Amino acid sequence: MSSSNPYQDDRGNKDRSITNPAGQGTAMPRSKSGPVTSAPGGPFLIGEAMTGGYGKGPDILHECTIAVDRGEIAVIVGPNGAGKSTAMKAVFGMLDVRSGRVLLDGEDITALTPQDRVVKGMGFVPQTHNIFTSMTVEENLEMGAFIRKDDFRDTMAQVYDLFPILKEKRYQAAGELSGGQRQQVAVGRALMTKPKVLMLDEPTAGVSPIVMDELFDRIIEVARTGIPILMVEQNARQALEIADKGYVLVQGRNAFTDTGKALMADPEVRRSFLGG
Ligand SMILES: Nc1ncnc2c1ncn2[C@@H]1O[C@H](COP(=O)(O)OP(=O)(O)OP(=O)(O)O)[C@@H](O)[C@H]1O
Ligand SMILES: [Mg+2]
Repeated sequence: MSSSNPYQDDRGNKDRSITNPAGQGTAMPRSKSGPVTSAPGGPFLIGEAMTGGYGKGPDILHECTIAVDRGEIAVIVGPNGAGKSTAMKAVFGMLDVRSGRVLLDGEDITALTPQDRVVKGMGFVPQTHNIFTSMTVEENLEMGAFIRKDDFRDTMAQVYDLFPILKEKRYQAAGELSGGQRQQVAVGRALMTKPKVLMLDEPTAGVSPIVMDELFDRIIEVARTGIPILMVEQNARQALEIADKGYVLVQGRNAFTDTGKALMADPEVRRSFLGG
């Protein structure tokens, strides 16, 4: 695979312009022939040594670090209540961290609001309430483009190219769609801002194994367009299989961090988190 042809197959969206052009210059193509090198200055997006909780409540995160590099998919796994969603919310600015920081392309964005982070190029699909159920599919996508002042019809066409079923159902209320289709709406909505990095919290929650595989394929396709992806997954095995980097969180702390492959091969990780 060369940098001029980042696609391994002929399915789905071919248009790299779905990504923010400003984020393209530094995107590293995924390569089978050489190591994936990160640009100087560390990962593209990192929540570093984050400690904090909700409001005046106790700390949920304890020096927790999650990150994603250019051209990569990073996956966060761990038991229920481990703080995976909290860590994602902290990176997106929905939670005040008492210590630690968030860097986007080397810039400290710890003090920015979520909306300002969207303007900076972050796309986030939360675990719950990630679509407007009473609005149509197309209205959901239009809402996703709320920060854009330019013509977003091309981006919408690219989202429909990536998720053809959404084009078919564009005038249907999103709440009438199946679980997997709703997740496509949620991801599509996030893509409407042409993000430089995409954060997904359990994009395959509650869907059948076949739909999960299909969603993973689409997520890989998005990554190949040059958008790094940081995602939480409860389907740990399948997710680590496609992960360049994996994080196992336990009780708000980093328990294991390695390549997806190495985590899958680690006997302790297998026994404790992957069911043997
Ligand atoms: N809005 C909130 N206010 C207060 N505490 C919260 C809030 N959301 C989550 N928590 C607490 O933070 C801890 C971590 O929850 P979190 O949702 O981050 O876990 P998770 O790893 O995403 O779990 P799951 O796999 O179930 O999605 C839990 O103890 C939870 O009760
Ligand atoms: Mg969660």
